[in-house]
Amino acid sequence: MQNALGEIQTIAVFGGTSEIGLAIARRLITPSTRTVVLACRDVDAGARAAADLGRDAGTDPVMEAVTIEVVAFDAADTDSHLQVVAEIADTVGDLDVVVLAFGVLGDQAEFDADPAAAVGAVHVNYTGAVSVGLVVADVLRRQGHGRLVVLSSVAGERVRKANFVYGSSKAGLDGFAQGLGDSLEGSGASVLVVRPGFVHSRMTEGLAAAPFATDPDSVAEVVARGLRQGRRTVWAPGVLRYVFMVLRHLPGAVYRRLPLG
Ligand SMILES: NC(=O)c1ccc[n+]([C@@H]2O[C@H](COP(=O)([O-])OP(=O)(O)OC[C@H]3O[C@@H](n4cnc5c(N)ncnc54)[C@H](OP(=O)(O)O)[C@@H]3O)[C@@H](O)[C@H]2O)c1
Repeated sequence: MQNALGEIQTIAVFGGTSEIGLAIARRLITPSTRTVVLACRDVDAGARAAADLGRDAGTDPVMEAVTIEVVAFDAADTDSHLQVVAEIADTVGDLDVVVLAFGVLGDQAEFDADPAAAVGAVHVNYTGAVSVGLVVADVLRRQGHGRLVVLSSVAGERVRKANFVYGSSKAGLDGFAQGLGDSLEGSGASVLVVRPGFVHSRMTEGLAAAPFATDPDSVAEVVARGLRQGRRTVWAPGVLRYVFMVLRHLPGAVYRRLPLG
């Protein structure tokens, strides 16, 4: 649990090989941090991510003191979530920060041709997050503290035709995360909704960058500041809040003509 200074001792990243999730974990590690859990679909890739995260352990006394655990987690296997979260909590004790960083972008043209693939993506991005989010929230509520960081997206703020399956899953996730945060009011636990724009990561490799494109470390900086300030929502970069304030109110006829891909 957080120590007397409110410093983070345990961090769990669901989607533990996510570039943004790993950047957030790296950014949140302090001399007080004892354990980082990477909950991954591919545990071999998780072990490589753990080795990379802990690569400075030999020279950096802060990393030397951090134990990195890799556990199996499939967002799509919702029946397993209760047990996975319980096992993590049993192993590491109280969870200070839990990051939901899993997600699939997919390709809209493929989804158009294969509705089952679209359902699979929505199941990971939305249903999977609802399932593990509720399980984690219950743990945090019982602890009486802890922050759940949810990787939403500007894609859900106003869904666009170029990726409307992904965008709609993020719109659902965003609404879920906001409501979950409200429901935790007074419990000591809380939710931080993160709305990044285009982030250069594995997910967007080969895609043309959108305006205000950013990188995982910059998103992590925004998240760290948001946690420090007790924010409920952050945008990465922050200017997107104002961009989307305008975009979300544009008449449909105008919005549809914008070159948004
Ligand atoms: N990159 C962007 O432009 C951007 C913008 C806004 C929001 N986001 C959101 O930020 C989050 C992190 O994205 P990223 O940029 O870090 O991309 P990333 O590196 O591709 O990370 C995505 C992660 O999701 C995991 N994942 C996919 N399906 C899973 C499943 N069924 N069970 C467990 N894990 C699963 C992947 O694991 P595998 O390694 O096994 O595939 C990977 O670790 C996602 O929710 C994404 O939607 C990204």
